[in-house]
Amino acid sequence: MSETQDTLTITDNRTGRSYEVPVTDGSIRAMDLRQIKLSDDDFGLLSYDPAFKNTANVRSRVTYIDGDVGILRYRGYPIEQLAESSSFLEVAYLLINGELPTTDELDRWVYDITHHTFIHENLKQFMDGFHHDAHPMGMLVSTVGALSTFYPEAKDLDEAEARYMQIIRLIAKMPTLAAFAYRHSIGMRYAYPDNDLSFAGNFLNMMWKTTELKYEPDPILERAMDVLLILHADHEQNCSTTTMRAISSSDADPYSAAAGATAALYGPKHGGANEAVLRMLERIGSVENVADAVRAAKDGEFRLMGFGHRVYKNYDPRAKVVQELAHEVFEVTGRNPLLDIAVELERIALEDEYFVERKLYPNVDFYSGIIYQAMGFPTSMFPVLFAMGRIPGWMSHWQENVLDEEQAIVRPRQLYVGADARDYLPVEQR
Ligand code: SDX
Repeated sequence: MSETQDTLTITDNRTGRSYEVPVTDGSIRAMDLRQIKLSDDDFGLLSYDPAFKNTANVRSRVTYIDGDVGILRYRGYPIEQLAESSSFLEVAYLLINGELPTTDELDRWVYDITHHTFIHENLKQFMDGFHHDAHPMGMLVSTVGALSTFYPEAKDLDEAEARYMQIIRLIAKMPTLAAFAYRHSIGMRYAYPDNDLSFAGNFLNMMWKTTELKYEPDPILERAMDVLLILHADHEQNCSTTTMRAISSSDADPYSAAAGATAALYGPKHGGANEAVLRMLERIGSVENVADAVRAAKDGEFRLMGFGHRVYKNYDPRAKVVQELAHEVFEVTGRNPLLDIAVELERIALEDEYFVERKLYPNVDFYSGIIYQAMGFPTSMFPVLFAMGRIPGWMSHWQENVLDEEQAIVRPRQLYVGADARDYLPVEQR
């Protein structure tokens, strides 16, 4: 296609003037709209896009999603293949570095992460300071942010070695913070990392170890945990990743940015959905009540949590993998009866015009909570498990943002619709 065709011709009917705007990668630069003015001292046109529903603010090489077809690829590799054949730490390496590691590269990566799982003993005092029934996500937001006070070199964003160390520390320490938050909530002493175990196995060790001298994870549950972390590892410019990028754009350290991303993930519309799904399924209570629940959701009485997605207008490919994984986990844990309610809910919803016309399909959160509950995790820990998985994704986007010459501090414009200039009135005249 010739150069002249890769443009838009915009005619401003207010002035009769026309403008040629280049089209690149299926987009126009919003800044090219600023030349469209009513007069020379006019500010020029803005684009108005609440929640950025149709705005790309970065160029990224990390993850590709085709929401219409239901495709998800990390650095070009399909999620189904990675879930089948890779490991969470190998996927984390892929997301951060852009290529699958050689044996030596993977060995060093695993060694470095394995030997950074401990947290400073003072951080335990942060944990101990929380109320006994504090939500673990509130504890995670706080302690991830607190990590920034232990590693001042994290501010050396231009130093590749400093960036590497913070990436290693956050991937390595999230499971420790997560497990310590859980142990605090049940009044049990902290179980320290065991470097003989795999990444997922060590997390299960820190969660469930009691009187045994050496915790031995069930291999099926260990693998299931690892696959669930792979499925959550990245998802391009979602709410929490956008938060990570926005905070890092002010040159804040990655721990402070990750605390903000964790806070964004906490919301029930985002990573908190897996917790909300479980509470919804428990509220529905039985397969017989599903039809009424779907009716109530269509009447707007509540949102069908775990359904719908800003990008996927087809089945979330991760939800399919999670559903298959459930059967393997149930071989060990026993079947979670909530699965029957979830399957019936999906069956009815996918046949119902309301959901079909809005292209609402199950997303990654719809089935993951059912597995987590069967594995023994309390519902409040579900978004924490999501955050553990998403750390390599956040850090890959953080690093991409830091190195992107085109990026600057995030500072959107607004359309001011408030009061015009007016004079102050003393209180007796109001
Ligand atoms: C994650 O972005 C990511 O990539 C996120 C994520 C990741 O990996 O990072 O994939 C993880 O957050 C998955 C989504 C988890 N959230 C939920 O399951 C919560 C329930 N889902 C919804 O709240 C909603 O679908 C969102 C928030 C996920 C998406 O919302 P949008 O894109 O802003 O869509 P919308 O709210 O404008 O809804 C469009 C229409 C509306 O109907 P109308 O006003 O047009 O009549 O669909 C309806 C909504 O009412 N709708 C639902 C619904 N989701 C949307 N109706 C019933 N149940 C739902 N779940």
